[in-house]
Amino acid sequence: MPRRILVTSALPYVNGHIHLGHLVEYLQTDIFVRFLRMCGHEVAYICADDVHGTATMMAARQRGVPEAVIVAEMGEAHRRDFADFDIRFDYYGSTDSDSNRESVYAIWEALRAGGHVTTREVTQLYDPVAGVFLADRFVKGACPRCGAPEQYGDSCDKCAATFAPTELKDPVSTLSGARPELRSAPHWFVVLERFRPFLERWVNDGGHLHPDMARWVTNTFLRPGEPLRDWDVSRPAPYFGFPIPDAPGHYFYVWLDAPVGYVAATRDWCAASGQDWRRWWQDPATEIHHVIGKDIAYFHTLFWPAMLSAVGWNLPSKVHIHGFLTVNGEKMSKSKGTFVRARTYLEHLDPQWLRYYYAAKLDGTASDLDLQLDEFVAKVNADLVGKVVNLASRTARFVPRLAASYPEDGGLFARAAAEGAAIAAAYERLDTASACRLIMAAADRANEFVERAAPWNLHKDPARHGELAAVCTVALNLFRQLCVYLAPVLPRLAAGCGELLSAPIARWEDAAQPLVDRPIAPYRALLTRVEAARVAAMIEASKAPETVARPAAAPPAAPSAPAEAPATAAASAPVEALAPTISFEEFAKVDLRVAEVLAAEEVPKAKKILKLRLGLGPLGERTVFAGIKAAFPDPRALLGRRIVIVANLAPRAMSFGVSEGMVLAAGEGPACYLLSPDPGAQPGQRLH
Ligand code: 2FM
Ligand code: ZN
Repeated sequence: MPRRILVTSALPYVNGHIHLGHLVEYLQTDIFVRFLRMCGHEVAYICADDVHGTATMMAARQRGVPEAVIVAEMGEAHRRDFADFDIRFDYYGSTDSDSNRESVYAIWEALRAGGHVTTREVTQLYDPVAGVFLADRFVKGACPRCGAPEQYGDSCDKCAATFAPTELKDPVSTLSGARPELRSAPHWFVVLERFRPFLERWVNDGGHLHPDMARWVTNTFLRPGEPLRDWDVSRPAPYFGFPIPDAPGHYFYVWLDAPVGYVAATRDWCAASGQDWRRWWQDPATEIHHVIGKDIAYFHTLFWPAMLSAVGWNLPSKVHIHGFLTVNGEKMSKSKGTFVRARTYLEHLDPQWLRYYYAAKLDGTASDLDLQLDEFVAKVNADLVGKVVNLASRTARFVPRLAASYPEDGGLFARAAAEGAAIAAAYERLDTASACRLIMAAADRANEFVERAAPWNLHKDPARHGELAAVCTVALNLFRQLCVYLAPVLPRLAAGCGELLSAPIARWEDAAQPLVDRPIAPYRALLTRVEAARVAAMIEASKAPETVARPAAAPPAAPSAPAEAPATAAASAPVEALAPTISFEEFAKVDLRVAEVLAAEEVPKAKKILKLRLGLGPLGERTVFAGIKAAFPDPRALLGRRIVIVANLAPRAMSFGVSEGMVLAAGEGPACYLLSPDPGAQPGQRLH
């Protein structure tokens, strides 16, 4: 039965760039969504930037621009980062929208009408120079317990004491450096205790939370005899947010309007695509799944269900809670280069690698995920290249077509098809680690089959070419089955497999039926090996000091990203001065061609050089010596790649042979990047 499912990831703050920590969440959500779609369900993946609050207001002031400028710039950067990791939202909005204001007001009206709101005076630290009340993260001072200096206004990282910012000794505003003063203002509160019976039921019954999380929420926040604390949902002016309609001069606290952004972005998407948003948020047949980190479980398991219940909209069916990212067993660190921005990763590595690595480690619980860089290299190479892609690269070249009927395979295809249900169940509970384990076990069986059948030997004996076709038909079908199961994780690999066997992968059922009697397209590398040198270059680039002021970055002590000091592309890749202008005629003399790497090997005694045998289609083959060895310590990584060469450069005699062309690449040493055409470009084709 097709289900209607709305899926969200947490709305990222607008005041920082996307980094590898964020991606733990967006990648697993994207994988979940792709899996659900493959099963034929009606799915919407909705997200938005979380833009309100003091940090955005201060960043705008610092630059002398309206907040909208910051919202637009960072929104664009976030969208690009997500898209380049193949994270495909149906809609990506912003919480500063008319639809969000309307939705917030509807909820507020319901809270007011239900008698759930109260008001009282709150005394807070106020920065008289910046003219703003200071949130905890904007005040620093000495710890009231141990005296440690430079502590933020909520807790001490030396002795772990927690306290109110007003208790800090010698407090200083991080916005202006001024000494804050105490000021009082009225605040509006939601009386959460009124929702306790409902929340106790929602947390414990109905499987909305993983049982461990339900226990944690109950033991931490819903302890018997301890009333839930009223939730302070207002902030006095000045504040970047929505004005409270019946409290002039006061604004909704960012955490009130942020989750409402889930609804608002759905409304905007529906308005743009001619749908009625109520189908998604008011029809109880719709499932709502939120994927979030454990740091914001409090908001999503208490406040958010309470707000939704007040207004009568759909409650979350499930809140999937994950842990934090550590790198090599430690918190991400700027100085160690392990605080890696999404963009820096993309400048060095293939997004498919991270998609797979995270998927192979995420198990649907709130345990932290440790990105071990050595393991990342080893696992991607062993599993994806060694076990999956190799099945195709070792067989697809031998035969032009799949056999007319599916050959006897000792039950391999049927066995993996029968495991589809278990793999699907693992995806459904976001336990992609179990899914990947089952898939790799099937890959092991497929590889044993290929090793035993040794198609490379059959190929040499024309009398056994019938057998060869049968072996390759089995191997390619087992490969395709793996690609179907991996499609939620590796959509590019699945697309490449679709092209290879002229049968796009779209449905989960595609794994149940073998393909026969179809042409096999010329094989091209579907995925390359990770080179440890590339990973090292990425870490090095993440250490780079900031050289270009990042206008949209948060002020120095922004609460959401205290550890982040943005690296920039410019910092990691110095730009050469532009060469003198040439005429079109001069450019036209350079004959650039697409070439396929047929062989790649080291050259004895040449430390920097690889010898490449390149195929130029109808133009024949060339030998080219290229100084790219540092970037490809394992030259096999190049096999099958399509690259671009200067094809009419005069041949150059070198001590180890004649080089018949020049490979185009950016950078040098380990950070050398080969130019590749988009899929579809054929060897020998000229570039214009
Ligand atoms: O913690 C955060 O990054 C918040 N911006 C998440 C908001 S999620 C939702 F409630 F909007
Ligand atoms: Zn302390």
